Amino acid sequence: MLAATLLLGLRNRPAHSLLICTFNRGTQGLSRHAARTCAVSARAPLSTSCTRRQSEASKIESKTLDVLGTAYATDDWTNTPPAILAKTGRNLLHQPSHPLAILKELIFKEFPTFAHYDSLSPVVSTHQNFDSLGFAQDHPGRSKTDTYYVNQNTLLRTHTSAHQLQLLAAISQGEHNVLMQAKNNFAAPRNERFLVAADVYRRDEIDASHYPVFHQMEGVCTFSREEVRDKIRQATTAERDSRTGDACHSDQVAQMVDATVVGEDNPMQSAHSAEEVAFLVKNMKQAMNDMVVQILTKAVAAQQSSGEVSASGSQTQFPVRWIDAYFPFTSPSWEMEVLFQGEWLEICGCGVMKQEILNQAGMPDRIGWAFGFGLERLAMLLFGVHDIRLFWSSDSRFVGQFSPGRINSFRPFSRHPSCAKDVSFWLPAESTFHENDIMDLVRETAGDLVEGVKLIDSFTHPKTGKGSRCYRINYCSMDRNVTNEEINVVQELVRKRMVEQLGVTLR
Ligand code: PHE
Repeated sequence: MLAATLLLGLRNRPAHSLLICTFNRGTQGLSRHAARTCAVSARAPLSTSCTRRQSEASKIESKTLDVLGTAYATDDWTNTPPAILAKTGRNLLHQPSHPLAILKELIFKEFPTFAHYDSLSPVVSTHQNFDSLGFAQDHPGRSKTDTYYVNQNTLLRTHTSAHQLQLLAAISQGEHNVLMQAKNNFAAPRNERFLVAADVYRRDEIDASHYPVFHQMEGVCTFSREEVRDKIRQATTAERDSRTGDACHSDQVAQMVDATVVGEDNPMQSAHSAEEVAFLVKNMKQAMNDMVVQILTKAVAAQQSSGEVSASGSQTQFPVRWIDAYFPFTSPSWEMEVLFQGEWLEICGCGVMKQEILNQAGMPDRIGWAFGFGLERLAMLLFGVHDIRLFWSSDSRFVGQFSPGRINSFRPFSRHPSCAKDVSFWLPAESTFHENDIMDLVRETAGDLVEGVKLIDSFTHPKTGKGSRCYRINYCSMDRNVTNEEINVVQELVRKRMVEQLGVTLR
């Protein structure tokens, strides 16, 4: 199965000793909210090849595809199924009582001087999503097995970074229709600082913490080089230390763990001076630390005032650590992780923006940093939601538990019984099989009735060399009981489609 790594980053973690800093930001108690585990994005770099069988399997017959009211011409790249298209209009971030929308507003409040976007269309160009950010032509993220394409040049954004160049360039290119979409376009009139909250789409495995649609919050902050020079001049010697670990504060809610160093493994760009990088990194980490602490603190306060006890355990402190990472559009780069119930949860990728992006945007005299937070992961932690599918539920027992501006622990309602069905098959002779094709096929057939799909057996026949797989599909409705007969019908359909669309031989 796929490992939980940031999709677009390839991990690069030199062993390092940890330096623990404490934060100092008030005396509030500590949160006990949270979820067991969850996903910002979970996708390991996979094969870059797209086989004929896959493109056949995913080909959408009609010549145009309607996405949010616009008809797009289809081609060999088209692989976005109706169940995914249906999600583009759900607008969870615009439902004020939805946990993801509550979290979005909390983050927006933390950055009052940034322009706030939350209505940008999920349909973007391949150029926006990949080329503008310096993705190599053979980057695994571009593969049809990982990304939902509308056609070769158009796709459902896989990350909010797709809007970086577009929003930075909006002023110089006079794209006022884009600028007008900021909820507070007075806040950063030249769009030199902005946040983008949005739904993002990635073909992925199915389980309680992975869903092919999730939400991210992009943060971009740029400074003029002159402004940075002045600030550096005013800084004390200690603040000029190029170690990034000195961006720690102390607080009782979160302890910052940061021993990362800008160097060969996580290099600065030749376009920047060491002082500029130190300034940007410190500014970025401080902004992000402050935001996370604010949010965790609010969660604790809400919990304490309501006297609720979180179902997710009695954790009272949240160590937050920084680790080296790699993204094509930042250097140096990091990931931020929060320790929750003994497990480090990756909640964010970030780094110093590649200068080429700012140059292309017509801002060669500015430098900047960017981050991308996964909202589901934080929301699962804050609201104690254990199954990512619940965010898509319209069951009043879920949606009725939340209200705008309030963080409270979700009280799980009785789970409906689940039903497991196995399917075993021989792989097609040519190696055209990709696990994500099964995930999409099952989701397309069973919708949100599918709780998880797990590989339980895999072997190669010693004589014929044929590959065999057995997957267990767990069916469970979030809002009703399902009968065995009903599931049998769905399972039969899944089996039939696997033969027709993936070319497997059932065993
Ligand atoms: N877009 C990256 C992802 O989804 C996260 C990121 C955003 C990293 C901004 C660096 C800067 O994986």
